[in-house]
Amino acid sequence: MKDALGSVQSVLVLGANSDIAQATVRKLVERRARTVVLAVREPASVEPFAEELRRLGATSVTTIAFDAHDTDHHGAFVDDAFALAGDVDLAILAFGVLGDQEEAERDAAAAIEIAQVNYLGSVSTAVPISQRMQQQGHGTIVTLSSVAGERARRSNFVYGSSKAGMDAFFQGLGDALVGTGVHVMIVRPGFVHTKMTAGMDPAPLSTTAEAVADAIVRGLERGTETVWVPSTLRYVMSVLRHVPRPIFRKLPI
Ligand SMILES: NC(=O)c1ccc[n+]([C@@H]2O[C@H](COP(=O)([O-])OP(=O)(O)OC[C@H]3O[C@@H](n4cnc5c(N)ncnc54)[C@H](OP(=O)(O)O)[C@@H]3O)[C@@H](O)[C@H]2O)c1
Repeated sequence: MKDALGSVQSVLVLGANSDIAQATVRKLVERRARTVVLAVREPASVEPFAEELRRLGATSVTTIAFDAHDTDHHGAFVDDAFALAGDVDLAILAFGVLGDQEEAERDAAAAIEIAQVNYLGSVSTAVPISQRMQQQGHGTIVTLSSVAGERARRSNFVYGSSKAGMDAFFQGLGDALVGTGVHVMIVRPGFVHTKMTAGMDPAPLSTTAEAVADAIVRGLERGTETVWVPSTLRYVMSVLRHVPRPIFRKLPI
């Protein structure tokens, strides 16, 4: 349960090696989160971060194996993760792959990898998490969508379409959960300097994992439904959404 001041006390992170997730969880532990469950493909890989959280004051930090592809076992995975946490105030779905657009246009397996991890993995974990949170009577699901899903661009439409699908799913899930005590917050960052984008030319209005984490924490405090990072992207995209396709496809974005 959140504490008397409304701060999150227990966090479950799916894709806990994500730079954005780690920046966010650090800030939450600094704000009194005490129980953290870190779900990653290779639990040993997240142990240094678990140690860091213990040093920052978290009293229970555990790791658990999680693969977004493993949809048959996501129900059991969520049960195990909730058993480790006891009670989950906040679940952050931060796993994702950018993939290689050119390869995905040639090779169906590469396109399927992006769609499976980003879309199917999100749907498959969010359903049991939302069920468990409804049983608790409270909880927040934060999902990392993307500006890329707002309107698919020629340059990365495979990734963009996977984010569009998962974003639409979470909008509907958030609507379905109104009145249950469970809240959904969709985060739509633009280009973020993380290991996912390492070596790429930054897009306009690029930002950092720290800035996304600050926006997530602020959104949690306010109960926001949709968070754009930076916030100006909301207005940029509301214009770009209406640009005719023959022009849009020629824009250097
Ligand atoms: N960086 C950006 O510009 C940007 C912009 C908008 C949205 N986002 C979204 O924000 C989220 C976090 O991104 P980030 O920038 O923090 O990226 P990141 O540091 O590369 O983290 C992504 C994480 O996803 C995990 N992952 C990949 N495939 C997985 C699978 N099959 N099962 C479980 N975990 C898997 C990876 O875990 P391993 O440690 O196992 O490899 C990795 O730690 C992603 O959903 C991304 O699409 C990023």
